[in-house]
Amino acid sequence: MSTARILNDTPATGRDLGYQTFSIGKFRFERDEYFAHIYFPYGRHIMPIAEFLRALMRDVAWGFFYGTVNFDGVLGTVNHYGTVDLFMGLCNPGYRNAGRAFLETFETKDIKAVFEGILDDWTVEGFDPFAAPDETGLPYGPKHGNNSRAVQRQRVVAKRMVGLPGDVGYRTDANGYTVNRQFLDVSQDTPEVHAEPGFESEVHAFNLFGYLSRSDVTWNPSVCSAVKDSLMCPTTEEYILPIIHGNDRVEWFVQACDEIIWDIEDGSTGNPRAKVVMKAGDVAAMPADIRHRGYSPKRSMLLVWENNDNSLPDKYRRGELKPYPVEF
Ligand code: PHB
Ligand code: FE
Repeated sequence: MSTARILNDTPATGRDLGYQTFSIGKFRFERDEYFAHIYFPYGRHIMPIAEFLRALMRDVAWGFFYGTVNFDGVLGTVNHYGTVDLFMGLCNPGYRNAGRAFLETFETKDIKAVFEGILDDWTVEGFDPFAAPDETGLPYGPKHGNNSRAVQRQRVVAKRMVGLPGDVGYRTDANGYTVNRQFLDVSQDTPEVHAEPGFESEVHAFNLFGYLSRSDVTWNPSVCSAVKDSLMCPTTEEYILPIIHGNDRVEWFVQACDEIIWDIEDGSTGNPRAKVVMKAGDVAAMPADIRHRGYSPKRSMLLVWENNDNSLPDKYRRGELKPYPVEF
């Protein structure tokens, strides 16, 4: 009988499973069958590969989003709109107090290129990081194939509004966007628009519920209408928001159907602040100094209303604006 197996001291990483290793600054990313291993000057962080790829997918697709994208309680990015901080333990008092927090700042294009490379190389055939867990294959094992079509999906960004001439088009069976299994009861009617003569090009409407019922991704707010800095970003949600979003401005949520339960925590320490249960029709303003993660037991529709004015983060930081938008 061989004892090779119990005596085997080959480290978990460093074996050739067919995955590439990636580096940026003093960070190094390796993957094995089940985990992402992230090395930094004070140690090594480990994340389950599905959770890591789902978080990475959002960070890449959203161009690092607004403010902080926490992959978990330790690893994350902060968007400075031109540069991006990559950090370990920045929003974690345990790491900070022990002198183990670490941060490096990169040009957005440099970190974007590395993150896209990881996402493409580490996503195997059959796994779709944007899909609900019940609608995708698994990400585990040695490298086998890829899913470039899924990880290179472009986020919908309407210039004015979905359905206007020259703007983002509708979703239909014919272009491959079928109604999701959990939205089969959603009406596919289209609204009638009766514009006054001369105003035909200034009035527009479409069935947003029907449009969302055909979304093939989860937790991916997409710009469906834009008026200056006011961006309507509806999304369909199922299971868990793969990142913990640290806001750098107020965001409004309108729960359009079903239910999401939110954990609200302090943005810089992670200390619990609130549980918010949003049922169909509920509206909430998420303050500028929190981080949040949503849980959607059933596929649901959420309208995220974003303010794209990038002078806001500094105004909150300097205390010129209160972190919440209304006082009752
Ligand atoms: C958010 O962080 O506000 C957020 C992100 C993704 C979603 C919904 C909300 O799908
Ligand atoms: Fe958010």
